[in-house]
Amino acid sequence: MDELEIHTKEWVATGKPLTREIALEVTRDPRIHALIRASDKYLDAIGYTEHGTRHTRLVANRGRDLALTLGYTKRIAERAFLAGLTHDVGNCLGRNMHGVSSAMLIFPILVDHGIEYDDITTIMMAVSNHEEEIGVIVDETGACLAIADKTDVHRSRVRYPDPTTQDIHDRVNLATKACNVTADPVERLINTQVTIDTAIASVMEYFQIFTSRMVMVQKASRLLGCRFKLVINDTELS
Ligand SMILES: [Fe+2]
Ligand SMILES: [Fe+2]
Repeated sequence: MDELEIHTKEWVATGKPLTREIALEVTRDPRIHALIRASDKYLDAIGYTEHGTRHTRLVANRGRDLALTLGYTKRIAERAFLAGLTHDVGNCLGRNMHGVSSAMLIFPILVDHGIEYDDITTIMMAVSNHEEEIGVIVDETGACLAIADKTDVHRSRVRYPDPTTQDIHDRVNLATKACNVTADPVERLINTQVTIDTAIASVMEYFQIFTSRMVMVQKASRLLGCRFKLVINDTELS
């Protein structure tokens, strides 16, 4: 056994496998809350929709539920949960490449909670790759995060509701009365049901801004061995 091998084994043995208990402990870390607050403040300043506690909690729970429903391990589900909780914290440093900055910011925090490095790097990789413009879906954690994040389109995310607004993002979010995601483990199907008030925004406008997001969800579904089904106002579109 050479010296390098000994060191490698020592590092692998460091940390605890991620459990529900540890994941919940991270949700109570004040550093995470401060980062989420600051990121939401920054995004408010540049006119973006809500990215605060509501969004991060929804993405965390939705990603975890997806993983469990599709039969992945509890450990993968908790990885998806923590990726959802932390994926947008880098926005406080600027919007560009915020997936990468989020991943860098959460590394020392997750280490402090004693989480095993393989869990931490998997979460970082998912977080770093969640932006549809540059992200690559590498594994189940990244896939669950991407689906949970990209399907959070809802009127409650608009900070200053005005149906006559010229901002297409605000209008489409405002028009979205519901966006529910369900997974069928037997049929291997990810079903996204969207209800849009077409008096506020058209289905065409929805696609104008969400096509790249839906393409990412489609890729993520494929990695999970699932077909992606998108239904808008009772019409199946994919
Ligand atoms: Fe993001
Ligand atoms: Fe997000």
